Amino acid sequence: MDNIDLPEDYKVGFKYFMGTKIDLSKKPLIPREETEYWVSSALKEIKARKNPRCLDLFSGSGCIGVAILKKTEESFCDFGDKENSFLEQIKINLEINGILKERYDIVKTDIFSNIKKKYDFILANPPYVALSRIGEVREDVRRHEPSVALLGGEDGLDLIRGFLLKAREFLKEKGVVFMEFDEEQKKEIERILEKNYSKTDFFKDQFNKYRFLRLEK
Ligand SMILES: C[S@@+](CC[C@H](N)C(=O)[O-])C[C@H]1O[C@@H](n2cnc3c(N)ncnc32)[C@H](O)[C@@H]1O
Repeated sequence: MDNIDLPEDYKVGFKYFMGTKIDLSKKPLIPREETEYWVSSALKEIKARKNPRCLDLFSGSGCIGVAILKKTEESFCDFGDKENSFLEQIKINLEINGILKERYDIVKTDIFSNIKKKYDFILANPPYVALSRIGEVREDVRRHEPSVALLGGEDGLDLIRGFLLKAREFLKEKGVVFMEFDEEQKKEIERILEKNYSKTDFFKDQFNKYRFLRLEK
């Protein structure tokens, strides 16, 4: 019998992300506080831009884009994920938060395969756990959270590579990318990026670990 308890947030059925209620009934990745930390930083920039067009890629529950739509008045945000159940989950979260349909599209996509527009901001929390390090992930997470939301291939960088090599094409002039990653991956990510973007910055999270990057087109 499986005696590893279901995570509390799945039992409760929802979680607050940046003060926004996020339903978890389809069991997407449970939103993390590290993600909340960098999205708060992105939000300041988004608020400073006129009619910002955003893309929340690898959106899962939709927590990132829903919080942005809720906290800004004139923004638009598209959501991309490859899993049907999470596309449903995003819809539920947009509806319970009262977001008007004119402000978003939900796209079934394999990274950028079905993305057709260009954006001022692309926000991405891809799956980035390395298969070789799955043993270090907490057992309740491994047992109950979706592996499609966690695993990024042998070194954890499969989705990150595919994302970083393409993201620039989907940015408008002065467009910005924010992406979450694991500290261990910083060196390899620097190598992948080379000189593809005009400006690259790496930032630490609230626990003093490198956790997100910001790229300018
Ligand atoms: C780490 S979760 C992020 C969820 C949410 N954005 C968050 O921050 O809590 C990654 C998401 O990427 C999706 N995903 C995995 N592979 C994908 C792919 N090739 N293309 C698009 N989405 C993918 C998974 O279904 C999952 O919902």
